[in-house]
Amino acid sequence: MRYIHVSKEEFSLIKIDDYKLFLHCSVYPPSEDTFFVFDSIDIFFSSLKFKPVAEPCTGSGFISIKLAMLGANLLASDLNFLACYVAKENLKKNTLYFNVNVVCGNVLDFVKKESLSYVICNPPYFPEKVKGIDRFLWWDGGEDGVGLIKKLISSAKYVLKKDGVLLFLASSFTNLIQIKIALAENGFLLKQTITKDLGEEELILFYATKEI
Ligand SMILES: C[S@@+](CC[C@H](N)C(=O)[O-])C[C@H]1O[C@@H](n2cnc3c(N)ncnc32)[C@H](O)[C@@H]1O
Repeated sequence: MRYIHVSKEEFSLIKIDDYKLFLHCSVYPPSEDTFFVFDSIDIFFSSLKFKPVAEPCTGSGFISIKLAMLGANLLASDLNFLACYVAKENLKKNTLYFNVNVVCGNVLDFVKKESLSYVICNPPYFPEKVKGIDRFLWWDGGEDGVGLIKKLISSAKYVLKKDGVLLFLASSFTNLIQIKIALAENGFLLKQTITKDLGEEELILFYATKEI
């Protein structure tokens, strides 16, 4: 894929393949990692019809568009209010929208216990703020890059039904051992990882199921 655009204007409109996307300069634009998750969803799911699915850290909502098109009963969320605003507009423009909710909040803090079948997320996963860039919400995964991922895993344990699926991205810059420990400590079985080589960095997509 396909097209990356960061406008100097506050708001901009872009096109990626057949999708029209509305962006704001404070919102993470669809990038290599976004496209990797977006494309990989087809490997794992052929349909999500009527399944309760959440995509925390939705950014522009691009991954959520795919989930909604697969029929998910979808909750998209982000801590950045403007991300929620553009994600909502993008979901309206590109999907049927009747099965979609967008909420502003911290990871999955506002979701009822054992109410979801799938949690899918491209979270911030870098170990430190990227130098010279103050859009830290995009990248800053906290200490070792796993701060937010640990929070994601423990929240997913709470909100997922038994056998529910957690699919999330990290990178070779993230402390992967800590991720595996957090998954095991929270009762997840790591079933599969798939990777994408970006040269200096490798993206790693984790597919885990909640066992208890
Ligand atoms: C790497 S970007 C990914 C955006 C989008 N999922 C994508 O793939 O293009 C990470 C996103 O996480 C959001 N975020 C950061 N901390 C968060 C938190 N504590 N709770 C919810 N969202 C958060 C950021 O605002 C940003 O939109």
